[in-house]
Amino acid sequence: MKIKSAEFIISNTDVSKCPKERLPEYAFIGRSNVGKSSLINMLMSRKDLAKISGKPGKTQLINHFKINENWFLVDLPGYGYAKVSKKKRQKFQSFIEDYFLKREQLVCTFVLVDSRHDPQKIDLEFMQFLGENRIPFCIVFTKADKLGSSKLNKQIVSYKKKLLQTWEEVPTSFITSSSTGFGRDEFLKFVDGVNQD
Ligand code: GTP
Ligand code: MG
Repeated sequence: MKIKSAEFIISNTDVSKCPKERLPEYAFIGRSNVGKSSLINMLMSRKDLAKISGKPGKTQLINHFKINENWFLVDLPGYGYAKVSKKKRQKFQSFIEDYFLKREQLVCTFVLVDSRHDPQKIDLEFMQFLGENRIPFCIVFTKADKLGSSKLNKQIVSYKKKLLQTWEEVPTSFITSSSTGFGRDEFLKFVDGVNQD
């Protein structure tokens, strides 16, 4: 897929205020700092479409981006950021949960995990939540540039093995690096395929 246009549409904390257009939508979720916003920029070949930061907790709203006039990418706040107050965290959680439960045009969610790390409890719990609510998701292993290729492959094989302890099958997964652009073509091809269905 060629990206012809990528424009920011709206930010909010209320799913009822998200765009009303019934276009296929893809959401990015995962722990704070895992690289959600960076990945959106990399995929769209844009430097600062989504705001990024070295400090976790940068994205705090539901952000809609309209791509090629016919689908949406959604950048969401990260979960699991300890420094956000408990009250704020609960508020975050409730609007994110609401988004997933109510957004009917959501066709696929990408759960981003750092390719250097073993499965984290919070990610497994989130995948469980998606599964229980029959929300389709894929896994995206991010920051692949931070590991050598053999270590990276080993880590991913081991991650999937651990998932199989609770899941019958491993969801579709992608390996990406926002620094090198690795994984971009494969990701866009996937979205293209889903959009054609
Ligand atoms: P929140 O909005 O806080 O939830 O974070 P986020 O998941 O959107 O992460 P963000 O894209 O802001 O990136 C966090 C940090 O990781 C930034 O310093 C990025 O430059 C860095 N980063 C993101 N992706 C990559 C990657 O693929 N490789 C490397 N080396 N660094 C990355
Ligand atoms: Mg972000």
